[in-house]
Amino acid sequence: MITLFDPNTDIDLGTPARDSQVQVTLNIDGRSISVPEGTSVMRAAALLGTTIPKLCATDSLEAFGSCRMCLVEIDGMRGYPASCTTPVSEGMSVHTQTPKLATLRRNVMELYISDHPLDCLTCSANGNCELQTVAGQVGLREVRYGYEGDNHLADVKDTSNPYFDYDPSKCIVCNRCVRACEETQGTFALTITGRGFESRVAAAGGDNFLDSECVSCGACVQACPTATLMEKSVVELGQPERSVITTCAYCGVGCSFRAEMKGDQLVRMVPDKNGQANHGHSCVKGRFAWGYATHPDRITKPMIRKHINDPWQEVSWDEAVTYAASEFRRLQQKYGRDSIGGITSSRCTNEETYLVQKLIRAAFGNNNVDTCARVCHSPTGYGLKQTLGESAGTQSFDSVMQADVILVMGANPSDAHPVFASQLKRRLREGARLIVIDPRRIDLVDSVHARAELHLALRPGTNVAMLNALAHVIVTEGLLNQTFIDARCEGSDFARWSEFVSRPENSPETLGAICGVDPADIRAAARLYATGGNAAIYYGLGVTEHSQGSTAVMGIANLAMATGNIGREGVGVNPLRGQNNVQGSCDMGSFPHELPGYRHISNEVVRAQFEQAWNVTLQPDPGLRIPNMFEAALGGSFKGLYCQGEDIAQSDPNTQHVTAALSAMECVVVQDIFLNETAKFAHVFLPGSSFLEKDGTFTNAERRISRVRKVMEPLGGKADWEGTVALSNALGYPMSYQHPSEIMDEIASLTPTFTNVSYTELDRHGSLQWPCNAAAPDGTPTMHIEEFVRGKGRFMLTGYVPTEEKVNSRYPLLLTTGRILSQYNVGAQTRRTDNVAWHHEDRLEIHPTDAESRGINEDDWVGIGSRAGQTVLRARITERVAPGVVYTTFHFPESGANVITTDNSDWATNCPEYKVTAVEVSRVYHPSEWQKRYQAFSDEQQRLLDERRQARGAKAEVRR
Ligand code: SF4
Ligand code: SF4
Ligand code: SF4
Ligand code: FES
Repeated sequence: MITLFDPNTDIDLGTPARDSQVQVTLNIDGRSISVPEGTSVMRAAALLGTTIPKLCATDSLEAFGSCRMCLVEIDGMRGYPASCTTPVSEGMSVHTQTPKLATLRRNVMELYISDHPLDCLTCSANGNCELQTVAGQVGLREVRYGYEGDNHLADVKDTSNPYFDYDPSKCIVCNRCVRACEETQGTFALTITGRGFESRVAAAGGDNFLDSECVSCGACVQACPTATLMEKSVVELGQPERSVITTCAYCGVGCSFRAEMKGDQLVRMVPDKNGQANHGHSCVKGRFAWGYATHPDRITKPMIRKHINDPWQEVSWDEAVTYAASEFRRLQQKYGRDSIGGITSSRCTNEETYLVQKLIRAAFGNNNVDTCARVCHSPTGYGLKQTLGESAGTQSFDSVMQADVILVMGANPSDAHPVFASQLKRRLREGARLIVIDPRRIDLVDSVHARAELHLALRPGTNVAMLNALAHVIVTEGLLNQTFIDARCEGSDFARWSEFVSRPENSPETLGAICGVDPADIRAAARLYATGGNAAIYYGLGVTEHSQGSTAVMGIANLAMATGNIGREGVGVNPLRGQNNVQGSCDMGSFPHELPGYRHISNEVVRAQFEQAWNVTLQPDPGLRIPNMFEAALGGSFKGLYCQGEDIAQSDPNTQHVTAALSAMECVVVQDIFLNETAKFAHVFLPGSSFLEKDGTFTNAERRISRVRKVMEPLGGKADWEGTVALSNALGYPMSYQHPSEIMDEIASLTPTFTNVSYTELDRHGSLQWPCNAAAPDGTPTMHIEEFVRGKGRFMLTGYVPTEEKVNSRYPLLLTTGRILSQYNVGAQTRRTDNVAWHHEDRLEIHPTDAESRGINEDDWVGIGSRAGQTVLRARITERVAPGVVYTTFHFPESGANVITTDNSDWATNCPEYKVTAVEVSRVYHPSEWQKRYQAFSDEQQRLLDERRQARGAKAEVRR
């Protein structure tokens, strides 16, 4: 969907829509229109195609009525009411164009212009400025007041934010930015200081935007009708000429954007008003942090080498895939069919992950395929499948607007899912009540105009105990929804479960001590969740990344079923997926035991369908998971890996174990956009493509499939799917797709939940939520409405088993890890953007009491040691963490956060126990031994990369 750039493609109707069932009919300039009750006169006129001049109104914000530009005349009404703040009424007769109105509007406009620099020709907004447009609309020809009086033309620009400027000389004090920050983003970082002529916009909490409370979401920039708040990229490159609608490649919210282009250059990303996941909002990453796509570190030529201590040699795509294929076949001949495998990426499209798992199952001839969801949401897949019958969240994001009680557990939406957090906070401001279960005092606990009624700051590793205690209260205090349970759930499983959770050992009084939480708070939270109306649970990796991750997911599903909080709007079980396409990579059959659509590889009927379509015989047994691949590599039986768009050397736990496994392999093929940490152990490098360089689809946390559209040609010559096709052909298993839409057609033909999905339907609907098939041709926003996917919901027993990772006198603190807003996962993308202005290193958060007892001050270097390894970070002393708990992010490879995390993992899925590591922290003065070795190895790999040469005959040289 490529559109020529036209600001009117996103027609601004002036004020937000109203969804009343009551229709009101009125007359505007002699024409009749019916609109929902509560609609403004301005919006009704706009719907008729009548433009009323406006400056302070925009349809993403509630009307404010300050600029007096939108005046109209209404029969029977005195004066000249503002059309933006006047609601329609039955029979109303409105006049939008009269001589008197024209004069009034021109007079107001004159006042604005007399305090505005008349530099339209050189202004970055020229041609896309609402002030300029309105001046034209009202026919302004002269400014009688002149420009000599008091004005703000000399006000100094604030250029501190890396992505946008604030030029107060152009500000008309319309308040749109302030309201955008409040209503859309929910940060309340802006305010208007002074009165009358002295009124100015100011960012709270700092002298400039960068130092203020602003989180750089860009909502104010988008709302500003002038060039006061303007993207630096537009200032530098000029106004865009065309736009392409695509989907953000960062988090699982899956925001829709208009990539605005000038020639083949991306000028800016503007959140799409019609985006069904984000409704025109975005965060700093999707909106601004796209510069990595053309960063000089991009590797755009295929490279090969025999050993990882050899220099890289640039070769053609043909040579690279031929070499990789010959190596994979050599390894299989020498070590057996199962000696190689591959990893799909949740950063890549559905079509790409589908092809990689197909290549492994069909061309490698084994099921050794896994995905990065192994280390994040694999317990969600397992736990929800067992209880509800489908490995996915149950709701749309919009569903939160119907929730009365919101329980956030082990998730930090403000940092990791910011656009959803803004929506959630909006609902809290409307009166919904919030329970947070998290060891850390996350932002939601106490943000502006939205705070948690209960914060259960449990000890890391005690989620299951907490969930059982909550269930105990619900069962023993008679708070069950027995009608729902009787109608919708397996009776015998429920009976077993209710007997189990009712036992005294599961009471808050017993388990509260284990969790480190006051039993009274647990009881209050259970009562609120069970009786507060529509109750929705949102959870994240703080639930899944534990030795009992799958058990905790089942515990959450149990709570929802027990209280009947599932199967309608405003309730449900909602995993906040980490990466942009983690839902999709799981859907596409990336796990070793499942074909696309979560069907077990041992199912003969399903396997036969794929065998017929793919023209191969498939192995019936599950292949190796990622941790099994590492074990097998260290044991000498796993020798080759195809790794697309995933950086296991940085993201997986126990780094030294991972790098030892990679070092033990004979052929590691990495397809990526940068020489990431894994690529430093690679023998073949295939240049990857960013999301801007390909067509495809991503599936977000709501099961929403959205189009990714190519806005520029792949810098490396091939989109990732084309690289996989080339490798497969070189392996002798032919693939011949001409376009990703053909891959989606194949997925749809083989996956019952995708039957109605096609690029044509996606373009028609904007996006589709699976299941999307004959039973649900327009998709399924809410799941399990009439019955659960598995038929009857199944209560699972969730006995609490303490983790083996225990504190002792040697390792007395518990380390937990997470993300920060401005950086993203392993940081490969965001570290290569100006987002480093906010976060340029990982820090260790430590409570003042723990810091004081160790003589640690703010900014001190501290050594963190665990049973797995040691690293050194700088300290941040904060009460966000409880005494006994320390916390860090893992965005910078040199931090070595995963050097400390251990091999412990979820009993069902092997998802690593990232969230619980027993550590000791002490003040130090030198990097750790691992950091020294890492730096030396990295420097050497950089040298080998820098020395890469155009290799004529390189293939022969490598094979020597
Ligand atoms: S960028 Fe976002 S957070 Fe910052 S001031 Fe603007 S609206 Fe508020
Ligand atoms: S900065 Fe822009 S949006 Fe904010 S008050 Fe000034 S002109 Fe209006
Ligand atoms: S919230 Fe997530 S999907 Fe949306 S812009 Fe930010 S990173 Fe992208
Ligand atoms: S647009 Fe109505 S008062 Fe400003």
